[in-house]
Amino acid sequence: MRSREVRPGIYSVGAVDWERRLFDALIPLPEGTSYNSYLVRGTDKTALVDTVDPTKTQVLLDNLAGIDRLDYVVIQHVEQDHSGSLPVILSRHPEARVLCSAKAVDLLASHLRVSGDVVGPVEDGQELELGGKTLRFIYTPWAHWPETISTLVQEDALLLSCDLFGSHLATSDLFGRDEEVYPAAKRYFAEIMMPFRAALKKNLDRIEPLRPELIAPSHGPVYARPQLILGAYREWVEGPPHNLVVIPYVSMHGSTRVLVDRLTDALVERGVKVERFDLEAVDLGRLATALVDAATVVAATPTVLSNPHPAMVSALYLASALRPRARFLAVVASYGWATKVVEMVASLTAGLKAELIEPVLVKGLAGSGDLERIDELADTIAAKHAEAGLGGPGL
Ligand code: FEO
Repeated sequence: MRSREVRPGIYSVGAVDWERRLFDALIPLPEGTSYNSYLVRGTDKTALVDTVDPTKTQVLLDNLAGIDRLDYVVIQHVEQDHSGSLPVILSRHPEARVLCSAKAVDLLASHLRVSGDVVGPVEDGQELELGGKTLRFIYTPWAHWPETISTLVQEDALLLSCDLFGSHLATSDLFGRDEEVYPAAKRYFAEIMMPFRAALKKNLDRIEPLRPELIAPSHGPVYARPQLILGAYREWVEGPPHNLVVIPYVSMHGSTRVLVDRLTDALVERGVKVERFDLEAVDLGRLATALVDAATVVAATPTVLSNPHPAMVSALYLASALRPRARFLAVVASYGWATKVVEMVASLTAGLKAELIEPVLVKGLAGSGDLERIDELADTIAAKHAEAGLGGPGL
């Protein structure tokens, strides 16, 4: 994407990656992504804030073709999708000084082999005058690495927030449309930010008083109405979970699916919203997004060699690592002659810190007594949601 002006003297010079479909060799990118880089031109000095993924270095170079001098390159975050072009930029602009957090100095040396006098740490709250443009650096750690900073262009009340508030969304829109960016930002929060809710709360406490009029993250479009994303993050970070049950499931011969179908109907009858995910063909990003709001997770799995199906093992490992707000966990499992599914699920989900509800284990195809136990599980879940005051019917 060609360079575009965000505000007078501030330009978006990064790259849209329309075709990328996987991030970190793990996260599906159905909408592509972007690697945003911003050029801030003062009357005296020029700063580039973040670079781009190494695969898009030429786009950044093309957008900087008319720039004779770069005084500073601010590296807000060392992950390579934002810092990966730094060595090439420095080779083109040996006059530039790299500014970053104290923690990033070491990470730049180890990840990019950029070190020495060219790199200078900035303090939390430090200001940098460019001439009519003043950058204020704000430490915003654990969003999602420990070294991350954000940068406020004070005269423009423009916050460059790096990964924070980002969305994996390839679009030609410089400014996002709310209905398009909100679901993408929620998915991004689920996949990247959710494990760091405590740190994010502190970061929000620092950012909101700055009253940014624009927020420009390093992925996805710029927010012209920052309250949308600030309010959404507050809710995702601090709000209670919703009256929602998320059911990841696998069924090899249909026995587990019978249990899932019965549980879905029983929960809906009791006013509880259900989102279910067949792990045979799941988009992990959609599952992660559902986990942002879920009050209860029900793992429904057949038994394979005494344990949960490997697809369930993988999904639960990920769900636990993401540390969602879920308060309750249940297991519904079918088995042929013996099972240790519950023990394994409990072990895999230790990070959830959720109350384990009495499991329903069924030998072979469910009979009427088994289906009644599924109904009782639905009773228990609905009652626990009601006791927790989780917003009444979720439907
Ligand atoms: Fe977009 Fe953590 O890199």
